[in-house]
Amino acid sequence: MTADARGHSREGTRPDGVRLVHTAHLDHASRQAARSLLDVVFEGDMTDEDWEHALGGWHALAWENAELIGHASLVQRRLLHGGRALRAGYVEGVGVRPDRQGRGHGSAMMAALEGVLRGAYEVGALGATDDGARFYAGRGWRRWQGRTLALTPDGLVRTPEEDGCVYVFPLSAPLDPSGELVCDWRDGDVW
Ligand SMILES: CC(C)(COP(=O)(O)OP(=O)(O)OC[C@H]1O[C@@H](n2cnc3c(N)ncnc32)[C@H](O)[C@@H]1OP(=O)(O)O)[C@@H](O)C(=O)NCCC(=O)NCCS
Repeated sequence: MTADARGHSREGTRPDGVRLVHTAHLDHASRQAARSLLDVVFEGDMTDEDWEHALGGWHALAWENAELIGHASLVQRRLLHGGRALRAGYVEGVGVRPDRQGRGHGSAMMAALEGVLRGAYEVGALGATDDGARFYAGRGWRRWQGRTLALTPDGLVRTPEEDGCVYVFPLSAPLDPSGELVCDWRDGDVW
């Protein structure tokens, strides 16, 4: 890993082959490759809004020679919990090409993003698919057991369909996992 004396990771390629790069430095071809990869992984269910949610932060990219076989990203959001607006690192766009799944690429990408989380945020969070849920739980992510809501332009709105699908990565923020967790507003799926 590219790291300074205190072991802090920086943009670059890690020994496990995962490249950590900010959206600002993602060249056009890599950006297109990531979007195309996620279209394959999610079988066409990745909307433009889903992709937009994955931009503006750090991308963990798994390459096999010149082919992109894995993508995951981490963006900043605010999560309201316990009377505070927590600085949250939110994981988006996690996918490994189907014929390369089960070989550790997903773990390597998440390890890179969790390093950023530990260094920069008070809590990590994500909305998991059923498949993803088992993967994240195995990495120490915890299912949010309380109610989920969104802070919309019309005020606080419950998101009951997301209850049980949100996972958090506990860091410095005090969390009551049976309490309410409120996400900030965005177009498309809010969680
Ligand atoms: C979920 C996903 C990213 C995992 O990536 P991967 O490269 O296959 O995962 P790894 O090989 O690093 O596996 C890491 C561990 O998670 C487990 N795991 C991975 N996918 C799993 C799944 N779907 N169900 C249960 N366990 C799973 C592996 O068995 C492995 O466990 P081990 O360390 O005890 O051996 C990948 O399977 C994928 O792209 N799935 C489809 C898209 C998706 O659902 N993305 C998540 C959106 S929230």
